Amino acid sequence: MRSTRQSSNLLRLVAFFFLLSGQTSAAAAAGVADKLDKGQNLTDGQTLVSSGGGSYTLGFFSPGKSTKRYLGIWFTVSGDTVYWVANRDRPLDGKSGVLLLNDDGSQLVLLDGGSRRTVWSASFLAASAAVVQLLDSGNLVVRNGSGGDAYLWQSFDQPSDTLLPGMKMGKSLWSGQEWFITAWRSADDPSPGDYRRTLATDGLPELVLWRGGGGGGGGATKVYRTGPWNGRFFNGVPEASNYSDKFPLQVTSSAREVTYGYGSVATAGAAPLTRVVVNYTGVVERLVWDASSRAWQRFFQGPRDPCDSYARCGPFGLCDADAAATSFCGCVDGFTAASPSAWALRNTSGGCRRGVALDCAAGGGGSRTTDKFKVVRGVKLPDTRNASVDMGATAAECERRCLGNCSCVAYAAADINGGGCVIWTDDIVDVRYVDRGQDLYLRLAKSEFVETKRSLIVLVVPPVAATIAILLIAFGVWAIWCKKNHGILDNPSMGVASVNLATIKSITENFSENCLIGEGGFSTVYKGVQSDGRMVAVKRLKQSALTNKGKKDFAREVAVMAGLHHGSLLRLLAYCNEGNERILVYAYMKNKSLDNHIFGPLPRRANLHWRRRLDIIQAIAKGVAYLHEGPDGSVIHRDLKLSNILLDDELKPKIADFGTAKLFVADQSGQTLVVSQGYASPEYALRDEMTLKCDVYSFGVVLLETLSGVRNGSMQTLLPQAWRLWEQGNLMDLLDPAMARPAPDDAELLYDLERCIHIGLLCIQDMADDRPTMSEIVAMLTSRTSQMEQPKRPTLDSRAAMRPLRQSDVQGSTTTDLT
Ligand SMILES: *[C@@H]1O[C@H](CO)[C@@H](O)[C@H](O)[C@H]1NC(C)=O
Ligand SMILES: *[C@@H]1O[C@H](CO)[C@@H](O)[C@H](O)[C@H]1NC(C)=O
Ligand SMILES: *[C@@H]1O[C@H](CO)[C@@H](O)[C@H](O)[C@H]1NC(C)=O
Ligand SMILES: *[C@@H]1O[C@H](CO)[C@@H](O)[C@H](O)[C@H]1NC(C)=O
Ligand SMILES: *[C@@H]1O[C@H](CO)[C@@H](O)[C@H](O)[C@H]1NC(C)=O
Ligand SMILES: *[C@@H]1O[C@H](CO)[C@@H](O)[C@H](O)[C@H]1NC(C)=O
Ligand SMILES: *[C@@H]1O[C@H](CO)[C@@H](O)[C@H](O)[C@H]1NC(C)=O
Repeated sequence: MRSTRQSSNLLRLVAFFFLLSGQTSAAAAAGVADKLDKGQNLTDGQTLVSSGGGSYTLGFFSPGKSTKRYLGIWFTVSGDTVYWVANRDRPLDGKSGVLLLNDDGSQLVLLDGGSRRTVWSASFLAASAAVVQLLDSGNLVVRNGSGGDAYLWQSFDQPSDTLLPGMKMGKSLWSGQEWFITAWRSADDPSPGDYRRTLATDGLPELVLWRGGGGGGGGATKVYRTGPWNGRFFNGVPEASNYSDKFPLQVTSSAREVTYGYGSVATAGAAPLTRVVVNYTGVVERLVWDASSRAWQRFFQGPRDPCDSYARCGPFGLCDADAAATSFCGCVDGFTAASPSAWALRNTSGGCRRGVALDCAAGGGGSRTTDKFKVVRGVKLPDTRNASVDMGATAAECERRCLGNCSCVAYAAADINGGGCVIWTDDIVDVRYVDRGQDLYLRLAKSEFVETKRSLIVLVVPPVAATIAILLIAFGVWAIWCKKNHGILDNPSMGVASVNLATIKSITENFSENCLIGEGGFSTVYKGVQSDGRMVAVKRLKQSALTNKGKKDFAREVAVMAGLHHGSLLRLLAYCNEGNERILVYAYMKNKSLDNHIFGPLPRRANLHWRRRLDIIQAIAKGVAYLHEGPDGSVIHRDLKLSNILLDDELKPKIADFGTAKLFVADQSGQTLVVSQGYASPEYALRDEMTLKCDVYSFGVVLLETLSGVRNGSMQTLLPQAWRLWEQGNLMDLLDPAMARPAPDDAELLYDLERCIHIGLLCIQDMADDRPTMSEIVAMLTSRTSQMEQPKRPTLDSRAAMRPLRQSDVQGSTTTDLT
């Protein structure tokens, strides 16, 4: 396998050989030699030190508190860091150990000098001129004299618990040989312990940590997987790209072998000392020697968090490590907890169940299936153990193949650049959100999308209206623009204008893919560039989502919503109502929706500092209060959530999709209402009762999410926690831990934050009557002295929370696309 070892090594070796040849035995006895010839031996107390820099030392040692003796190799600078052990499970009792080459040069033998018993040996092709040498890579090798650069044997082929640069893990497809690392049993016992790390070679290559199974593999369970190799790093360990210039990772997948290894790049002459070790505690670590502090620095440790725990959320579960500690688990779109009662007790291993059967499974005919794909973004891809992989297929081909196979449940690109195709035909397990994660295409029944459409039909009117309102603002301008071909936004004082389809087509390059910025179940959103260069968001309702009634009501609803003007509402600039097209034109918000910030990665999160978050909450409250008590009567928003709140250039919130709102006075009969999971009040979840107080409840969730950085979600992750902290008087512990704590001497800010959370708790009370009105909320938020009641403990019924709503938030709603 390893016949092509560095020829530079060889040169150095040869030089060494000449240097030392006159005095080898003396040198060996003095412990400065790097090799052992036939006829020589190494006894306890003597060492071999690697050629070159002398970084590695071979000799006898006793680990930890043990008095037993082992032959091992350690880092010269860090004598207790033993990375290879010969007699792992056959220790010597005393200091009588001797290492030597046997007479015919066919074995490297560790003898118990007293009894002459062989404690450990390595066999190879007999070679008359066999010589043992510790190379400056840390590899202990046997070769045939100084002439051959092929190894008869090498310690790198028999790793202990450590992977050094130049070693590999994986499998030779020729010989069947496998390389993996096995943890020690304990700090005092190097015998093979419970944990083992291998390179999984079924499906895409990925590193897997196993527990149990006695080292043989049978009965072992997966503990943690890094996620598949994506061409640059293991999909679930994006941080590896931070150090891949220093320690380049390499995965080889050929007819010969599937292996993983890494290098250490020399800087200022010397390559840093580094190791990857599977600890007996069940943790994998990458450590780098820091010469200045003379200590090992940890670059990586896994598993890192509860979501790394293998299959924690069961089949079709989706783990979110940013969620509150009480529940990291949710389900992928289109699925709900298989056993809500078990989930309520935090036993999520049973996973999730599909809501609507796939077309194929229902007896359809393969290629004619009506199923569609939903994208699950930014995840560590599921276990690919039983998946089929084709590195040659394109994304389009992949999708086609998945639709063509009744058992296919999901597909994804195999590498980070979008090439290759992985198809899952089993349950998908061990999916979690990660930074720079990949997109998983989940196959769902058409009705998972259609439901959205159906509601849409009813809803088309409202979204349209919302859009329209926005449009209205810009509309006047738009109208002018249409005539004079100026900017749409120039004259916001005029109402929403109707624009013709040709104009829309011209600003979106005829709805070109280039302009596509989002797609939901019932609309597609394009970025439009006006002739003066300013941008708008163009929301085109899908034909399939439109009913005749929806089409008819479109203009009326647009007009109603156009009457709503408030600084916290997203502006509807214009609309198009031509032929079968129903299109809304909004102001373009390049800062996207609030959830992108609140649940986003750190720099973006921290950008919304505490005072800014309080301002945002206040502005949202004012916007909702305006909807509730606006000039033309009450409008219920119905779908308040972070993804429906966009941020403008100054990070001021703009409530979107109040299109799902209806005039309170309007006839509600027969309507499909919409509330996203995690934001639905109990009376709505249980009894479909939709009142202004439902918005108040959703607002409370929005408020608490904004301050805590935790998604409530369908599992009611956040609310019980908030309530508990209230009872314990530790409200400040609810604040997003990813953000700097408010300064302890900023009493004003602390007071405001605490008051704000208190208001949030008032909003999420069970009884609608107990909740304040939006205008009361605005009053409380804007005055530090106004009275506040004590909130009543909500039951936070998880059955209600988990009850699938008619219109779940599968879509993340239309407005997520709005940006
Ligand atoms: C090891 O080598 C020494 C001489 O260098 C010799 O006296 C001794 O017998 C050898 N031990 C074994 C076990 O071969
Ligand atoms: C070792 O080297 C000798 C002489 O160079 C050669 O005759 C012999 O075949 C080699 N043995 C092996 C196993 O390579
Ligand atoms: C990796 O680098 C990115 C950006 O440079 C940084 O945000 C992130 O925290 C780093 N990750 C680790 C684990 O160091
Ligand atoms: C394993 O972890 C323990 C505790 O963190 C540490 O003391 C020990 O040195 C580690 N062992 C190895 C082999 O890294
Ligand atoms: C968790 O639930 C599964 C079924 O969903 C059950 O088999 C298992 O025993 C439960 N585990 C615990 C600890 O209750
Ligand atoms: C792969 O298939 C085997 C045999 O059906 C099954 O036991 C195992 O759970 C599957 N693994 C995954 C990750 O789907
Ligand atoms: C569907 O995929 C499974 C698993 O890869 C495979 O065994 C089966 O042959 C495929 N069926 C068709 C019709 O391609």
